[in-house]
Amino acid sequence: MDNSNEYAISLEHIYKSFGSVTVLKDVNFYLKKGTIQALVGGNGAGKSTLMKIMTGVHACDSGTIKIDGRAVKIDNTIDAQKHGIKMIFQELSLSPTMTVTENIFLSNEIKKGILLDKKAMAEKTRKLLEELEIQALPTDRIQDLGVGICQLIEIIKALAVDAKILIMDEPTASLTEKETNILFGIIENLKKKGVSIVFISHRMKDIFRIVDSITVLRDGGIVADKPKSEYTLDSLIELMIGRNVEKKMEFIKRETPVGNDILMQVENLSVGKQVHGVSFAVRRGEVLGIAGLLGSGRTETLEALFGIRKGKYNKLVIDKREIVIKNVSSAIHNGIALIPEDRRRQGLVLDHSVKDNLCLPNLKELKRGIKIHKAKVKTMTTNCVESLGIKTDGVNVGMLSLSGGNQQKVVIAKWLETNPKLLLMDEPTAGVDVVAKGEIIDIIRNFVTKGNSVLFVSSETSEMMAICDRILVYSAGRIAKEFYRENLESEEMLEYAIQH
Ligand SMILES: Nc1ncnc2c1ncn2[C@@H]1O[C@H](COP(=O)(O)OP(=O)(O)OP(=O)(O)O)[C@@H](O)[C@H]1O
Ligand SMILES: [Mg+2]
Repeated sequence: MDNSNEYAISLEHIYKSFGSVTVLKDVNFYLKKGTIQALVGGNGAGKSTLMKIMTGVHACDSGTIKIDGRAVKIDNTIDAQKHGIKMIFQELSLSPTMTVTENIFLSNEIKKGILLDKKAMAEKTRKLLEELEIQALPTDRIQDLGVGICQLIEIIKALAVDAKILIMDEPTASLTEKETNILFGIIENLKKKGVSIVFISHRMKDIFRIVDSITVLRDGGIVADKPKSEYTLDSLIELMIGRNVEKKMEFIKRETPVGNDILMQVENLSVGKQVHGVSFAVRRGEVLGIAGLLGSGRTETLEALFGIRKGKYNKLVIDKREIVIKNVSSAIHNGIALIPEDRRRQGLVLDHSVKDNLCLPNLKELKRGIKIHKAKVKTMTTNCVESLGIKTDGVNVGMLSLSGGNQQKVVIAKWLETNPKLLLMDEPTAGVDVVAKGEIIDIIRNFVTKGNSVLFVSSETSEMMAICDRILVYSAGRIAKEFYRENLESEEMLEYAIQH
């Protein structure tokens, strides 16, 4: 039976290698018209690569792409656009120095005669921002906005062109529940209009909420493709990983409770327009969470403590010494490290190798005189790759050849190697798969057991519930509430506190 019309697009017998590494092996992928289909799989499974083939970013080595049952050629993104295919990339593609309006209308400008109609574009942007409740102005520059907000703007940009097929690669990676709800409203609306959607995510909760069917990719091959109702959470994870995964997202009560010894204390910290006079202390061995909506000042607090942003405070004490953080090197000197939310802008030098990226903050330790100690580098890099299971073809390859989640693991590994006393983590698990999430949680547990402390920001409440000893809830740059983990009965309770 020819059921080709059932599909908005199909990719058949797709093969793709990068150099000697085969990434996709005989993949058949079918997207049903007017449905939301999840594409899931561990970090490096080949999800982004497959979707980039569908959108003409990569050419496949062999295979056929069919639309309405007919083979088509998609050699570049313009071909894809002609077929109504639009992709929201995992790595954000906005221009940092341009404004929100300029980004949304880039190569899609509204014109009045031969001139650009700037007023109309600004007005349309303002409306879209308002509709989606995004806290940004049309004139804001992308570089001044947080990652979550940029993620939403990236989505608006894709919506400004009418797409028949929309691919979303990790659209909710650093969105809180509230923004995720807004996004899901948009997705449902698009579905009603007949748009077919591929939804890639490592957030199982989101997948089970929004999609109709789930395709599982493991090591470059499809291992399952069924309606959502035919999976349970456990069966899905097992299909993705190929084995049972112990549940690590559960809160484990400490064997020795956190003492009262204070490692870091800040009094009356203000950061720009985002943080207004917060005071808190982190105890030795404690994981202190900061929860809040996008734009509530969580990231700015961490960045001020790491010297990336200018913060004003009455007093900052670390290890019983009063200090002033002037810049990143004084933060590092005082035993502070930051795993940033925005790995592409701050976390990595993308055109350098994995090895160079791992070594960068650790050069002092790795040097012998003015020379780099090769054996030490080897031990260190091997350790990093193994302890976090970074999937890479050696450490000499460029960062750009790693999948999104594996890039994030490099950021985490390199800062852990600096042996900080206070580790600031901003959305450390954004984009990493379930196994790696569990590994990161384990690493944090080990890290604090040694008497170190962590300030932990995550938009995933399940994660905060699993790892934090205490949680501050920010609201508009102030501490609105404080909870000890043992007094939080459910994730919903925390979720409610964040939103009200
Ligand atoms: N440009 C490239 N050059 C070389 N290798 C690449 C390139 N792009 C991807 N790869 C390799 O292909 C494999 C699949 O990568 P891909 O980005 O498709 O994974 P993914 O499933 O999207 O993972 P994640 O969940 O981490 O985003 C990875 O092992 C990666 O190292
Ligand atoms: Mg990817």
